[in-house]
Parts: sequence; C-alpha cells; structure tokens
Amino acid sequence: MKTEFRKLSDKIGVEAIGVDLSKMPDGKKMDELEKAFVDNCVLLFRNQQLTEDQHVAFSRHFGGLEIHVLKQYLLPDHPELLRISNIQENGKNIGISDAGQYWHTDLSYTRTPSRCSVLLAKMIPDADAGRSFGDTCFVNTIAAYEDLNEETKTYLLKLKAIHSYSDRYERMRAVSEGASQRAPLTEEQKKQVPDVIHPVVRTHPVSGKKSIYVNEGFTMQIEGLPADESDRLLKQLFDHCASEKFMYRHKWKAGDMIMWDNCSTQHLAIADYGLHQPRLMHRTTVTGTPVF
Ligand code: OGA
Ligand code: MN
Repeated sequence: MKTEFRKLSDKIGVEAIGVDLSKMPDGKKMDELEKAFVDNCVLLFRNQQLTEDQHVAFSRHFGGLEIHVLKQYLLPDHPELLRISNIQENGKNIGISDAGQYWHTDLSYTRTPSRCSVLLAKMIPDADAGRSFGDTCFVNTIAAYEDLNEETKTYLLKLKAIHSYSDRYERMRAVSEGASQRAPLTEEQKKQVPDVIHPVVRTHPVSGKKSIYVNEGFTMQIEGLPADESDRLLKQLFDHCASEKFMYRHKWKAGDMIMWDNCSTQHLAIADYGLHQPRLMHRTTVTGTPVF
C-alpha cells in the first residue's frame, strides 16, 4: 500500500499518514519516505510508540549517528539519543533545557554538519488540556534562497562564513540561571568543536538545490567583510529566512516524531512554558557530508 502524505504548509513539511515506525518499513517504503523527506524538508509521523532501539534503528537508515559533545545529556544505554528537556533530577537538568531557542541548524558548527535530526516527543507541556506549549518552528532555506533576486544570489555564492559552537554556548551560559546554569565548556569539549568555515549558500547533497546556510544560532561572521557590513548582511539573511512564508509551526503531541533536513531548513524552539510544565524530547542526529 502506498503511504498517504499530507502537506503541513505551503512551502515546508509533510505528514506521512498511517506509518508505524515500530515495525521497520521495508526498502520500498523507506525510499518513498526518503523522497517525501527530501522534497518537503520536514517529515512528520504521529502516534509513534517507539522504543529507544527502534528510534535509533530507524535513524540509522539515513546515516551514521552523532554522539553529542554534551555527554551528560545522552541516554546512558543509548548515547546516540540526546535528551532535550527542562526536567531536573536531584537539582540537575537531565537534558539540554534551552536547546534551540534561537533560529539554527543542528551542528552547522562542525566540519561535516548533520544531514538530519530525528526528534521524538515524549512529554509535552499541557498537551492534554487541549493547548500545547513548546512549539517548534521550521523554515525552508531552499525556498528562502530561491526567493532572492539574481544579483543577491550571485553575490552570496562567493561568500563564506564562520560558525562557532562555543560562542553560542557562552551566550546561553550568560543568560542561564540556577540549576539550569550551563557548566563552562571544558578544554577537551572546546577542542572537539573548533570554529569552522562554510559557504553562505550550500548545495543539497541529494537534490542539488541551493539554500541559504547561515543561521542566527551559530554563524558569527562573513569571512573577509568588515564587522559592521558582515553583521548587517547576516541580520538581513537571518530575518529573510525566518519569514512566515517559508515557515511551518508544529504543535507537538507526545508520540509525534519529526525529522528535519539540516541541509535545507532552520528551526526554532518556542520557550513559552515553565519548569512546572515538564517537556521531554529524544533526538538522534544523523551524520552528514562536507558542505559545498
Ligand atoms: C533540537 C532542537 C527544538 C525543540 O532538538 O535540535 O532544536 O523544540 N529542538 O526541542
Ligand atoms: Mn536544533
């Protein structure tokens, strides 16, 4: 039976209907899912009751899996699974509590950034009361690139930009408080995430389409431009990418699993809930290829 797909918005996102990922899809079904994923950049599955092993196994179909640099937030028996959560145990966060609360693309600060991320919602604040908190917004950066005028596209094709994990980490550290306080990165962790340079416009490794590849989260500077000019251009590109017309905003329910393409999207976590409203997500991060 062919899977039914339903678009989530005009420019980004599709839902695969009636797929139960606890039974590994066969090769043909996987090809269908992968095509829908590449074409729509964000793929949603609802009502998934997956074990950790099944989450990992499904993700592995798309490539090797990353082990995140913040080791304290990995699931002890499954280091491929990263906890995103505001839950605290014994006065300590069990996951990254402030993940993605700025527009970003996962792991753009690495030499070979992630191909895609696969996020499973385990607990969503107040979802039962008919209203959920902690939405995630996604934008299509291929659509954002294609929307630019030809002159701008040609100009951007020549540029490269510097991405940094530790700069973002320090900015988040400065605003975190109490038990949410981020510990300083150790020298060892810093060594694992040196600053990197990527083209400002990247080509999708599967579809060959071009997209804007700078993000507010991790892109610090355009290489070779004076600081004020670089700041101005980056701000323009960030604002352009984040426009409503390229966006889908997901209202989570526990059991939703979303995979997003890190070569052609950015995402933003909406922090509109408090510590008394537990939120727990499990993420795998699929390895990617060098940016070109
Ligand atoms: C992530 C992320 C957003 C969210 O897992 O990469 O940015 O809404 N999460 O939890
Ligand atoms: Mn993220």
